[in-house]
Formats: sequence, C-alpha cells, structure tokens
Amino acid sequence: MVTHSNKGSFTLANGVAIPCPGFGTWRMKAGSETVAAIQEALALGYRHIDTAAYYQNEESVGQAVRASGLDRKEVFLTSKVWNTDRGYETTLRAFDRTLAALGTDYLDLYLIHWPAAANRFPDWKEINRQTWRALTRLYREGKVRAIGVSNFLAHHLEPLLQEEVAPMVNQIECNPGWQQRELIAYCHAHNILVEAWSPLGQGRVLGHPLLARLGEKYHRSPAQICLRWCLEAGVLPLPKSNTPRRIQENLAIFDFSLSPADLGQLAALEPFGTSGHDPDHIDF
Ligand code: A2P
Repeated sequence: MVTHSNKGSFTLANGVAIPCPGFGTWRMKAGSETVAAIQEALALGYRHIDTAAYYQNEESVGQAVRASGLDRKEVFLTSKVWNTDRGYETTLRAFDRTLAALGTDYLDLYLIHWPAAANRFPDWKEINRQTWRALTRLYREGKVRAIGVSNFLAHHLEPLLQEEVAPMVNQIECNPGWQQRELIAYCHAHNILVEAWSPLGQGRVLGHPLLARLGEKYHRSPAQICLRWCLEAGVLPLPKSNTPRRIQENLAIFDFSLSPADLGQLAALEPFGTSGHDPDHIDF
C-alpha cells in the first residue's frame, strides 16, 4: 500500500521512498535562474526534483544537483517521456537522452507524460502499452527505481494494470480548485501514488476567499493551505517557485493539519481551478 509518513515522504508500491514535497520545474527555462532556484530548493531541504524532457531544463536540473554538493543518491529525480517519443524503441532512446541531459546514470522515477488518447489515436491502448513496456524494461534493468504515468485517467490506467509491472505513480493536475477525488480514489485502490502538478493551480486558485479565510485561521498562506490539502488527500504535491521565500514557505506544511470541518468546506467547493488540459482531448 502507498503510505505517507507525514514527515516528508511516501512509500511506493515497490518499497521505494519518495521525498515530499517535490520541487516542480514546469515553465522554468534552462539557464542560470533555474539552476539557482533548484540549488536554493536543495539547500532548503527539498530532496525531490520533478522535470521532463518537454521542459527542456533537464541539463539545468543536473547542473543544480551537482552544484548542491549532495550525493546523487540523496536526490530523488523524476523525468518523463514526451508524447512524440511514445512507442517502445523511441522511448528507450528518449530515456538515454534524458540521462545524458541530466548527467546521471539512473533515474528515480520515469513517467509517461500524457496518455495517447482515443481522440487522436485509434490504437491508443497499444501505443501506451508499448511505451509502458519500454519503461518496464528500464525498471527491470535497474536504470530507473520506479515507473509510472502522468495525466492518466482511470480508463487509460486500466490496460496498464494488466501488465507485468503496474504503474506506481500517476502525476495529475490537482489542487483545491480541481480535486479529482474519484481518480485519486481509483489510484489509491490500485496502490498508485498520486502526485499533484500545479498544486497551487499555477497561482490561479490562491485568491479564493475560502483559502484566504483558512490561511488566516491557521496562520498560513493560501499556498500552504493548498499543499496541506494535498497531504490530507494522500497526494504528493510538486509546487514550483523561483522565489526563495516561497520555496521555503512551500516546505513548511508538516506542522499543522486541517480540521475535518475545514476539509469538508474545501471538499464542497465547486471546481474553479483547472488549466483546462483534459487528457482525453489534448491536441499536443
Ligand atoms: P514564482 O515562481 O514567481 O514564485 P504551481 O506550482 O501550481 O504550478 O504554481 C506555480 C506558481 O505559483 C508560480 O507562478 C509561482 O510563482 C507561484 N507560487 C509558488 N509558491 C507560491 C507561494 N508560496 N505563494 C504564492 N505564489 C506561489
């Protein structure tokens, strides 16, 4: 079972510990600003960096890890295979490029970035299966410590659950304004850890009056309420920030908890915070 220690880590189905929160790097451009932000995160105590081939910042991530002075084994590194590399051989080659860009010889977690979906691919199941089999091979060869998917809905996950190795992680868009409760329950029932990308709704959701009220009540920022909400839902958040004060703030989520009544108020919110990327209808 996926377990959560409340002390900054979860344990995946295969026993691998995954530090929490992770540091998201979407929209962080390759270069010195990103290297500095990741170094800051590592100095402040983050031990989990989430990147992707698509972000084009893997080299900067690798540079920051090396500059941190931390042993490679102390940092949990995630990357993802992009949509144009789906398929067995192409995924294996994409993985090699990712390792080279990061300057490492293994990954902690490798994910399929988006499912091939029925709107564009009549053979979407087979494409996802072939991509997944490449990840399974990398896992069996010890080149990656855990494997999973991102943006998969239940019907995308189902065929992969029939495979030899089941996904250990599903990274999805998730925040108090886009709660995805059914999908989370489905993942948990299948022993799949849910990670939240854009746990702050890219900043969009932070102005909601309920988050402001709860922030005042708990003497926390709306961002910290969002991140704590993730933990209470059994979800590992991946907040992104370029700002040292916020990078630090986003770590301080383990010394308070939201009351059942306040969680109930959050659960009752109408959806208000999605980016609009529906995995069944993406056009990229
Ligand atoms: P910045 O990078 O300028 O600090 P998400 O993780 O949901 O994608 O959200 C990222 C956005 O939220 C970024 O624009 C980031 O801005 C902002 N952000 C990150 N942490 C905080 C925080 N603690 N308070 C307010 N905004 C934040």
